[in-house]
Amino acid sequence: MLIDWPLILTKHPDKRGANLLSFCYIKSMRKEQVTGQASRFDLVYGKPGMAFGSEPEPELANFVKSSRVRGKALDLGCGDGRHALFLAEQGYHVTAVDFSPVAIKKLESISKVRKLNRVLELHYCDARDFKYRNNSFDLVVAVTLFDHLPKKDVRPLIEKVAGSTKKGGVIFAKVHTVKDPGKTNGSDKASELSWAIRHYFEPDELRKLLKKNFDIIKYSEYDDLDKSHGRPHFHNFAIALARQVQHSNLACP
Ligand SMILES: C[S@@+](CC[C@H](N)C(=O)[O-])C[C@H]1O[C@@H](n2cnc3c(N)ncnc32)[C@H](O)[C@@H]1O
Repeated sequence: MLIDWPLILTKHPDKRGANLLSFCYIKSMRKEQVTGQASRFDLVYGKPGMAFGSEPEPELANFVKSSRVRGKALDLGCGDGRHALFLAEQGYHVTAVDFSPVAIKKLESISKVRKLNRVLELHYCDARDFKYRNNSFDLVVAVTLFDHLPKKDVRPLIEKVAGSTKKGGVIFAKVHTVKDPGKTNGSDKASELSWAIRHYFEPDELRKLLKKNFDIIKYSEYDDLDKSHGRPHFHNFAIALARQVQHSNLACP
């Protein structure tokens, strides 16, 4: 659902050019951005320190470090930027998208301190509304983003992402599965942030969704003990590393 909230436009001017903040909708924003999920994430990112730690996902880090390819990367649902910053340090030009303005502001500050702001382009925007351009990215990262959407929005977003990934480009995706304790309301093993998950993926669901446009390089589902935020808690995740194999006439506007 889109609602009018034009006042937000005056809030984040950035005229210096290097670190670009932009808005996907000039006059309309999704309701989640104003009232719901995004403002709950603003509270998470309003606390000191990086919300999910500063280290990138090990599988992504290993892949990037062992690959010679650099170029343009997209970090969808970037949060305060542990992956965007890592990729920028590794030599990528990174476009980072998140619908929490506090997360984007925090990432902007950290990137300046680490002198990475010139290679980071920041978009305060719902990932579903980002203006995807065909054949743009060599690497796309979506770490716990697809599972934050209603199921009906996942496939269309993956199609857009596939369209904007260059042929030969790679996607790294991570999602919560139905085996995650957060799926059971009130489980004391669950994350305090389980409210954010709107779609728990079925076994093999992520792999099947990606298979249409990508060759799967690595796929796994696994239990995890998470100490990066809140009290220690458990997860069950699916991760996929996959290579774009098609040409660009996909569902990317
Ligand atoms: C669990 S956090 C993960 C953050 C980051 N990927 C990381 O691994 O540290 C999920 C992030 O997705 C963002 N998010 C959720 N739904 C979104 C949407 N529809 N559009 C853009 N960002 C979204 C949240 O604001 C939050 O920053």
